[in-house]
Amino acid sequence: MARTPHDLLRARVGAAVASAFGDDVEVPEPLVVPTTDPRHGDYTSPVAMGLARALGRAPHELAQRLADALEVSDLAEPPEVVRPGFVNLRLHPRWLARRVGELAGDGRLGVEPATAPTRVVVDYSGPNVAKAMHVGHLRSTIIGDSVANVAELLGHDVERVNHVGDWGTQFGMLIAHLDDVGYRGVEGRSASLAEIEDLYRAANARFAADDAFRQRARQRVVELQSGDPETHSAWRWLVALSMAENQAVYDLLGVHDLVVRGESTYQPMLAEVVADLEAAGLVVVDDGAKCVFVEGFTNAEGEPLPLIVQKADGGYNYDTTDLAALRSRAELGAGRVVYVVDAGQSQHFQMVFAVARMAGWLPDGVEATHLAFGLVLGEGGRRLRTRSGDSVRLVDLLDEAVQRARRFVVERAEERGEPVPADVDEVARVVGVGAVKYADLSQHRQSNYVLSFDRMLSLKGNTAPYLQYAYARIRSILREAGWADGLPGEPPAVTLDEPQELELAKRLVVTGDVVHRVAEDYLSNHLCTHLFEVAQTYHQFYEHCPVLRSPEPLRSSRLALCAVTAATLRLGLGLLGIEVLDRI
Ligand code: ARG
Repeated sequence: MARTPHDLLRARVGAAVASAFGDDVEVPEPLVVPTTDPRHGDYTSPVAMGLARALGRAPHELAQRLADALEVSDLAEPPEVVRPGFVNLRLHPRWLARRVGELAGDGRLGVEPATAPTRVVVDYSGPNVAKAMHVGHLRSTIIGDSVANVAELLGHDVERVNHVGDWGTQFGMLIAHLDDVGYRGVEGRSASLAEIEDLYRAANARFAADDAFRQRARQRVVELQSGDPETHSAWRWLVALSMAENQAVYDLLGVHDLVVRGESTYQPMLAEVVADLEAAGLVVVDDGAKCVFVEGFTNAEGEPLPLIVQKADGGYNYDTTDLAALRSRAELGAGRVVYVVDAGQSQHFQMVFAVARMAGWLPDGVEATHLAFGLVLGEGGRRLRTRSGDSVRLVDLLDEAVQRARRFVVERAEERGEPVPADVDEVARVVGVGAVKYADLSQHRQSNYVLSFDRMLSLKGNTAPYLQYAYARIRSILREAGWADGLPGEPPAVTLDEPQELELAKRLVVTGDVVHRVAEDYLSNHLCTHLFEVAQTYHQFYEHCPVLRSPEPLRSSRLALCAVTAATLRLGLGLLGIEVLDRI
């Protein structure tokens, strides 16, 4: 049973509408919304505005009838009717106090499990073999991990899948080129990804210019597809080297449980996918290529745009692979498949989803969603580049954040005349990586943003370090009180007599709403805003309300507010994939 104020008020307003206007009126959404101006209470119901037209009465009159029928005395002050037709609701301090007391003993902080748990596949990261991960893959990894964390907290059966780009005709030319430069048969040796990228570039150039080479490259593709052992082992070598280097990024980011199921996984299924599309009468052969036309998709000239599922030379492509993957995921019982991939691939996914529906592989109850995201830009709004003009390696970017965080931690300790923490390296990793993740997740997912180390590591503003330091300070208060390992007994009675206590309590009781909203719209920036507001209202509270120096029972009441604040920050940051530390 949902217990956030919003859920409770919604239910009450729904009941009041039925009792005042009858069961058969259509209730206009939304029933209740949070107010933006505290003078109007905490929530307002615009329902009378929506009913006015349907019922042909003045909104104000309907709002009054609604207010009269509304039973909220246990959780809110008497409803207030305001023109033109709103019912404003202000939460009762007594209810808030009791609720905060409950949250102090609730590890979920009031986040209810989903009512219909399902199997959720989150497809994220997806780097390409023989190429360095780029910042787009970084965003995908950070966002995807958080999406998976949120779904998991809500009780879904979550599968984190890394759809690595480990297959395709490019391997033919790469392996043909490896032959010539003496890499073949030396699968034991190591090579950096940068070296492989150079080989790749060279192979590309030869493929464009040299007919004989092109022939050999094509031959290698055929051999790879038919499972020729030697070609296969060269391919495996490339995959292993690439993934080993990517693993360094995942380790630094603290991304675990991401299962590699690359494009190659679906190779055995591609012929059948195309055959089934043909059997369903969906395939049109155009210039030798097998195509599925999808209504509503056109190219720049306005001509119908097909999804090509098999090229004229018989080869399959990225689109075919994604069709096979989606079909297989649905067959394995996914209720929802979420793709965290840059906005540039929107059309690809819309078409893949549409074709999968046309083919009946994606039943109505199964949801497929493309979570598009914008670009990460360097300072000045240009593409992210190193000084020498090369693209930035992700490990280097993360290392820089960690180095800067280290300097920041040391300087801060020196400024305050405190010793540098003994575990400064660990602190630097948690703060530096946390800063990078938070800078990303606190932006609207679809926007581009400029990467700024100074901004993301600032203690002023909506940043990870600000929240991590707030958390550590609260933990030190709890330690001093002997509350660090949990409540000292029964949840304490909470009182909210000061306005700062009340404000903090109002933020603490809505975490459940915020997390559910993020689970629905996949916009983690709302969660960041919530955590930032919690930390800010906590600061106001801490400035005005002595905690450890207060007499009992006030001291315990305020410690409970501290404990719930710390737990909220830990839970929320955890959902974003960001760690906290007891001491910084
Ligand atoms: N390898 C792709 C890229 O780098 C991303 C893969 C995304 N996932 C998928 N199922 N297509 O653009």
